[in-house]
Amino acid sequence: MAESVIVNDVGPRDGLQNQPRILEPQQRLQLIAGIREAGVDSIEVGSFVSPKAVPAMAGTDIVAAGLQGLPAGHYSALIPNLRGYELARDAGVNTVVMVLYGSEGMARKNVNMGREEADAVTETILQRAREDGIAVIATIGVAFECPFDGPVDPGLVADVAARFLQLGVARFVVADTIGAANPQQVRELTRRLVASHGAQRLGCHFHDTRALGLANVYAALESGIRYFDASIAGLGGCPFAPGASGNVATEDVVMLLQQLGFATGVDLEKLLAASDLAETLTGTAPGGRAKAWLKPWLAKQHS
Ligand code: COA
Ligand code: ZN
Repeated sequence: MAESVIVNDVGPRDGLQNQPRILEPQQRLQLIAGIREAGVDSIEVGSFVSPKAVPAMAGTDIVAAGLQGLPAGHYSALIPNLRGYELARDAGVNTVVMVLYGSEGMARKNVNMGREEADAVTETILQRAREDGIAVIATIGVAFECPFDGPVDPGLVADVAARFLQLGVARFVVADTIGAANPQQVRELTRRLVASHGAQRLGCHFHDTRALGLANVYAALESGIRYFDASIAGLGGCPFAPGASGNVATEDVVMLLQQLGFATGVDLEKLLAASDLAETLTGTAPGGRAKAWLKPWLAKQHS
């Protein structure tokens, strides 16, 4: 039996938050449905953040309510603070993704908090979530390099990971928010984390800013990481991190995993249809190299 890897599509959040075209909640749901239809059953559907800060994510409560009409799946929503937690809980979300930071500069720019303040808020959220029966994924942003403060000490990321895995997060995700990491750094950090904690509750999140997205996925895979964030059609980028471009594309990651013999549960043909939908809805599709090759290749398989 092939070993499984989870691909968590963050396109409906990371992908859409920074698009010039703002989608209606129904259009966002249509995209989520397309991704789910392709067999991706882990999807970050939106965020509960200030609509002034990120107008594209207004109405995530409507998106969350609409998930009822979709096949069951691991649907999650990003939160930046306690208020976000409360909004997500009230909207019926059962997995929240709380953001931690590798740097002071990014924490300030993104949520107007200090790095340690975000850690402390996350501890409070974990306590509340335990009582409410909600799972918490912790994602540490700018885990390799910060656009404001420069390189991040891997020791700091390792310390934060140890603390929150011990506190009971469902998963700890290392995020290269601006796509500045190289495979050597990824290998070292992920090996270190896997050696200390096992891979079961770890994950990685890469952006393809300088074409190292898939190389970084590969490096993390070699360390034993079996959970990756990716974004349909390579959409994405943080509005508060200068230089951040799209996430590594879901179709690229799934193609890589399938070629390496991993099971993903994803139907590539349907995934390409979701990618086309993402392009149509947003009018932009910055990333994704696999599609141009896969389309004729899949057509040939059928003929
Ligand atoms: N969702 C919706 N509204 C929120 C909120 C949340 N999670 N947290 C705070 N607010 C509201 C407050 O109620 C307040 O509303 P008001 O102006 O109507 O009174 C307003 O936002 C300001 O609240 P304050 O606590 O002073 O926050 P701030 O101005 O320091 O901004 C954030 C902090 C976190 C609200 C804002 O920076 C934000 O939403 N950032 C998200 C960034 C993001 O999504 N980045 C990309 C993903 S990592
Ligand atoms: Zn991201």
